[in-house]
Amino acid sequence: MKHVIGVDLGTSAVKLLLVNQQGDVVKEVSKTYPLLQEKTGYSEQNPKDWVDQTVAGLSELIQQFEGKPDDIEGISFSGQMHGLVLLDENQNVLRNAILWNDTRTTAECQEIYEKVGKERLLRITKNLALEGFTLPKLLWVKNHEPELYSKVKTFLLPKDYVRLKLTKSLHTEYSDAAGTLLLNVAEKEWSKSICDLLDINLDICPPLVESSEEIGILTPEIIEKTGLSKSTRIFTGGADNVCGAIGSGVLTEGKTMASIGTSGVVLAHEDRRDRNFQGKVHYFNHGVPNAYYTMGVTLAAGQSLTWFKDTFAEEKTFDQLLNDVDKVPPGANGLLFAPYIAGERTPYVDASIRGSFIGIDSSHKMKHFVRSVMEGVTFSLNESVQLFRDQGKKIDQIISVGGGSKNEIWLQMQADIFNTEVVKLSNEQGPGMGAAMLAAYGCRWFRTLEDCADTFLHAEKIYKPIEENVVVYQTLFKLYQQVYTSTQSLNQKLMQHRQ
Ligand code: XUL
Repeated sequence: MKHVIGVDLGTSAVKLLLVNQQGDVVKEVSKTYPLLQEKTGYSEQNPKDWVDQTVAGLSELIQQFEGKPDDIEGISFSGQMHGLVLLDENQNVLRNAILWNDTRTTAECQEIYEKVGKERLLRITKNLALEGFTLPKLLWVKNHEPELYSKVKTFLLPKDYVRLKLTKSLHTEYSDAAGTLLLNVAEKEWSKSICDLLDINLDICPPLVESSEEIGILTPEIIEKTGLSKSTRIFTGGADNVCGAIGSGVLTEGKTMASIGTSGVVLAHEDRRDRNFQGKVHYFNHGVPNAYYTMGVTLAAGQSLTWFKDTFAEEKTFDQLLNDVDKVPPGANGLLFAPYIAGERTPYVDASIRGSFIGIDSSHKMKHFVRSVMEGVTFSLNESVQLFRDQGKKIDQIISVGGGSKNEIWLQMQADIFNTEVVKLSNEQGPGMGAAMLAAYGCRWFRTLEDCADTFLHAEKIYKPIEENVVVYQTLFKLYQQVYTSTQSLNQKLMQHRQ
């Protein structure tokens, strides 16, 4: 039987899925790499680590595969968004990649507003200048490392660098290009006017293609190292959120996904390229040609729970940590958590806001804190759900993906807080599945990506909101919404005490 591979280049690991023509994940390999955090707010990775671990993962996958290498017909990619990879004229990496969750670029965001103007920026890119996006990072390097910047021949997004190393073919695609803040999102071309206003050479922007486009072949060296066949076809792929959307079937108007991974997103399909959300939510190109999506982001979603476990309950596994949470009623007995431990994006664009527990009482135990972290993350995602509803989007079912979809309590909590049905898929694999589907579609196994989704994806369980919990959460959500404004200026003042 024929197979495809979906490569998902995440922030903590690369995950590779070998998928057959029925959509079954036949093998799965994950390889980690370190995050380099030299100072508060800095977040970098060495692109070589991504390539080495992807190649190691591919080779492990092939070794475990019982079929012939020729049976692996296609490979495609999903990648962490916004990361800046800088290459010189010989395609050598000039410095570590600066990642999506690096927040050192507040001054550069200001520079963008001053030189481009907020209105023009919104008109062209449909998005605000956020610290996490690629353009502020590019300007940071230009401002702080001018000598290195003068050697830049091109920039790339993380997954595009890995694909370059596998194929020698240099491209990006619209879904990741949209997250740079250099793309004219509606026209699907790099913005010359933004480049001119910021004195950036348009030529450093890589060539643009569609997500399902076939792009080059594997180099002999990679074939040798991995055991893959030279007949394996390589497809461009998409941003991780786009691949997450494809991998959960969010391919038509009316479909919405909530993902709780390291970061959390609420993402809705958008057919039109001319809506105006005034930058309140991100508005990017989809991996489906001429489609778009809107998205609200919670920067530290799963990361809040990981941080809590690592700091206060290191000895426990996640299962042990979550064990007693259902013994605590909704509201965590008056304990409220705001998950701003890495700043926030939606609905508050604020890199200096920080998290809080409000209402700590001497009766609170570990289980109350854990429940309140899960609730705080879900409240934050609900801010995005609310924004979409305020803009007239109908949301009566949400597909839950990521770590948050693996836990029954969290799934029910999402249904209760979002006040909508929440669907758990039977073989939820996140962005890696979306990448595999782009390869399957690229290989013409299916006429459309939707046909592919019909074969590959199945609902396992639907969680319905429980009325009494909905009522409690609606009251608590109003209190949660006050935490940001009540703690904003305190956090501004505390900022100077952070190293
Ligand atoms: C989206 C974003 C994150 C990363 C995580 O704008 O910054 O979701 O894509 O990999």
